[in-house]
Amino acid sequence: MNESAKETILTLLAGAKGPVSGEELCRRLGVTRAAVWKVIDQLRREGWAVEARPRSGYRLEHPGRVLTEGLIAPLLNTRQLGRNLIVLEQVDSTNRYLKEHASALPDGTAVIARCQTAGRGRMQREFYSPAGEGLYLSVLLRPRLEAGRAALFTVAAAVAVAQALEAWGVCPQIKWVNDLLLGERKICGILTEAAVEMESGRLEYLIVGIGVDLWGRREDLPEPLRQVAGSCLSEAGVEVDGPRFAAGLLARLEALTGEPFEQQPLLEQYRQRLCVLGQRARLISPGREEEVTILDLDDDAALIVRDGAGRIKTVNAGEVSLRPNRRKEDER
Ligand code: BTN
Repeated sequence: MNESAKETILTLLAGAKGPVSGEELCRRLGVTRAAVWKVIDQLRREGWAVEARPRSGYRLEHPGRVLTEGLIAPLLNTRQLGRNLIVLEQVDSTNRYLKEHASALPDGTAVIARCQTAGRGRMQREFYSPAGEGLYLSVLLRPRLEAGRAALFTVAAAVAVAQALEAWGVCPQIKWVNDLLLGERKICGILTEAAVEMESGRLEYLIVGIGVDLWGRREDLPEPLRQVAGSCLSEAGVEVDGPRFAAGLLARLEALTGEPFEQQPLLEQYRQRLCVLGQRARLISPGREEEVTILDLDDDAALIVRDGAGRIKTVNAGEVSLRPNRRKEDER
C-alpha cells in the first residue's frame, strides 16, 4: 500500500471541516475512484473509522487523532525543535530509531510514531504503545552540557508535557522523576537516553522520549496496566487534538531547554507540580527497595529523603512508588 496516498487522504480528511467527496480525493491524489476506495479500505483495516456518506463524501471519526507531518508541521512555531520532523506509521521504538540515525540527523530532529512495537520504558520495561491511543515522540538534542546534568532534560520534558496539557485544561501532577499522573493513574512516561564523549565527559547527544496516553480507554488496556494507567480522555474526559498538542509540546520543550538554560525557573515549575514532597514512599532501584519519607528536591532535581533508620540522603536515580504494597509488574 502506498504510504503517501494513505497519509495524504488522512491529512485531507482530518484537516477538512466536513466530509470530503470522492471526486475531490481523486483530484488531489491524481488517481481513480477505485484507487481511492482501496486506500480507504486499507485505512479502515488499520483501525480508522472512515464513514462514507452518500452524495457528500468521506468523513473521519476522531480527526484530532491523526498525526501526520502535513498536519503537525504547519502548526510548529519552534526555532529548531521538530523542524526536521519524521512521522512513522510504525516503528519498534522512536528512541531506538533516533539512536540508530543520530549521526546523520540534525539537532532538534523529532520522530513521532503512530504505534511502537517495542516501546522502551525505564528500568528495561516495555512501554505499551498501541496505534491511535497516544503520542509517541522522541527528540534528538545536542546541548552543551556535562553528562551529569542530563537529568534536567527529563525534568524539562515532564514540565513541558504538563504545560502542554494544561493548555487543554488537563492538569497532571508529576511523580518524580518523570511520570505524569492524573489522579493516581499514569498518563505519560519519559525516557531520556544519552551518549557521552568519554574524554570530555560532555554529552554527545541526548534523546528525550515521551509517551503520552491521550485517547486510550481503560477497558482496552491489558492487565495489569488497567489498574494503574489512564489517558487524558479516560481520566479528564478531554479529547486533545494530537497535532496541536504535539506542536505545543515541542514549543514548550524548546523554551525550557534552549540557551541560556535557566535551571532555577525550570525547577520551580517542576516543584509546583510534584506530588511526592512530604510523602512516605517506596524507593525502587534495580535490585533494591526501601521505605522513605520524601523531604525535598535539590537543585539537581535529586530527592532528599529520610530512610527507615532516620538517615537523610540524596537520591538521584531509581523511582518512587506512592502505592502501598504495589507489585513490581504493576508499574507501567
Ligand atoms: C517510562 O515511563 O518508563 C518511560 C516511557 C517512555 C516511552 C516513550 S514513547 C516514545 C519514546 N520511545 C520509546 O521507546 N520510549 C519513549
